[in-house]
Amino acid sequence: MARKWLALVACALAMAGAFPDAAAAQLLPDRVLVNASGRAGTDLSGPWNWSVDPYRDGVAGFHGEAPGRTHQRYADVDVDAETRKDPYALWELDMRRAPVTSLPSSWITHDATMRYYDGLVWYQRRFEAAPRPGERQFLHFGAVDYRASIYVNGALVGTHEGGFTPFALEVTGKLRAGENQITIGVDSERSNDTVPPTVTDWETYGGVIRPVRLVTTPATYVDDAWIRLTGAGRIRASMTLDGPSAAGRPVRVRIPALGLTLSGTADSQGRWTGEAAAPRALKRWSPESPTLYDVRFESGEDVLSDRIGFRTLEVRGTRILLNGKPIFLRGISLHEEELGKEPTRAITPAAARALLSEIKDGLHGNFVRLAHYPHSEVMTRMADELGLIVWSEVPVYWRVAFARPETLAVARRMLAENILRDRNRASIALWSVANETPVSEPRNAFLTTLVRDVRALDDSRLVTAALLTRRDEKNGRIEMVIDDPLVAQLDVMAINTYNGWYSGDRLEALPAIGWRSGATKPLILSEFGADAKAGFLDAGLRRKFSEEFQAEYYRQTLAMADSIPFLAGMSPWILKDFRSPRRQHPVYQQGWNRKGLISETGERKQAFGVLADYYSKRTPDSR
Ligand code: GCU
Repeated sequence: MARKWLALVACALAMAGAFPDAAAAQLLPDRVLVNASGRAGTDLSGPWNWSVDPYRDGVAGFHGEAPGRTHQRYADVDVDAETRKDPYALWELDMRRAPVTSLPSSWITHDATMRYYDGLVWYQRRFEAAPRPGERQFLHFGAVDYRASIYVNGALVGTHEGGFTPFALEVTGKLRAGENQITIGVDSERSNDTVPPTVTDWETYGGVIRPVRLVTTPATYVDDAWIRLTGAGRIRASMTLDGPSAAGRPVRVRIPALGLTLSGTADSQGRWTGEAAAPRALKRWSPESPTLYDVRFESGEDVLSDRIGFRTLEVRGTRILLNGKPIFLRGISLHEEELGKEPTRAITPAAARALLSEIKDGLHGNFVRLAHYPHSEVMTRMADELGLIVWSEVPVYWRVAFARPETLAVARRMLAENILRDRNRASIALWSVANETPVSEPRNAFLTTLVRDVRALDDSRLVTAALLTRRDEKNGRIEMVIDDPLVAQLDVMAINTYNGWYSGDRLEALPAIGWRSGATKPLILSEFGADAKAGFLDAGLRRKFSEEFQAEYYRQTLAMADSIPFLAGMSPWILKDFRSPRRQHPVYQQGWNRKGLISETGERKQAFGVLADYYSKRTPDSR
């Protein structure tokens, strides 16, 4: 499989004028199983037994040796039956009689004891399978936070690192006809070497946070499929087959509504790329008209269908162009956390629609920054449907171990998994490779590698990163200077700025703050914001954390934004209050970052109206 990807990357990188190193190939997922939820199979969501393992007893014995069988939570055993057969048998586990929870969900809501748990938890369930000759079976995971070890019928079938991207493991030949057992060991523990590192400003939702699916395919199947509209107005499609008869196999891509068919033959590696002029009737995707088409990727008996939109993106000077026309990104940032007092990061279509509609209909927005990690595919598909342009990001956040090759490898794999999952999402316009990372040589090299990987895997979108500025004060005039060396690598600059919240600037002084950049590129204000506790009204003093302060902060910051000639969009921090262990003000925060324009239960604060009013006055492309 890696060989095939190496070939694919080789051709893409050849096009980009750089040649891959063997190491690069190892960083690509063994398989993509793109659009896993659209394939034949069984969704394993629902009741699972779970068992907490704080001292990782199921991983190592008291002298660090391999755990004995009676400590192996993944053992393929009915403990109750065993002890009935042999009353002297000692099993210090019994997963079948362990507490039950519903997955996907984070363990922080399993019960009160788990609210702040960080460590290892085992999950197990049984499922029926009927493996047939000539078929293949895969277990697909939407995301497991942070490290996952997967066992089928007591045997390890694979591991994964990274809490926000999908992975798939082949289990062909490992399933029994009838009842099978799957066990997942989930370890949420992060360190300075992980991505992200231990300290962030969001809650760790440890656990199996997205669906697990048993997918069945023919022996040779369509593993990856990608289709896009090129800048030259051509429909370009690529497919990668996996299996014994992948080489030389006929392939076809059809868009019935447009009467368009592309066909060809896979090469010796099982891959194919073809293109044709876009039909005149093609309606391009945009926030105003988020047109999606049924697309069928076919090869042999395998048919993969998806709903896909077509649009072009480019940068011209300081403008971002969508379908050839300048667009101003009227956005907001968002963490992956559903509305409610006890979120568990289980994003259903209804939860995604509730959040994204508040942006589209409430704020009159056309853009959302999904921060700081890849959100669920449910969210990006909902953005496709509702018509919201998306910024997608990998959690290279704050103090990452930039000089450590293993950490870079994890980040590169994560980036590839994210891009390969969502390349067909018309809504996604920007891939972001980092957030607020301190400038240094190792950091610059680390991020340059990620930018190169993005360009190798996707030539149809824009690359960015959320950067920090230098603040200059001359003769009492404040100027924000964008001089991060990474800007040279990016298509779009993005800056997080908190003048007036983290700085002591008076709000009325904000509009006079100047902005300077050495590069002629579009700028997105990827973050600005102020905390407010919903319902804390303080018209007299207008103290920080009051709704009045937040509203005035927005008025003045937006006035400052209006003075930036190269501004192409914004995604203020943030739509909804979100959980953060760093935020412990006893009156105003209680474990929540309160920079939301709505509270955790959806109450709109005064500043919501300020931004909605500002966006309603902006026509799509007015600067
Ligand atoms: C930072 C950071 C966010 C954080 C925000 C804040 O800029 O990127 O993750 O939540 O500021 O301080 O509220």
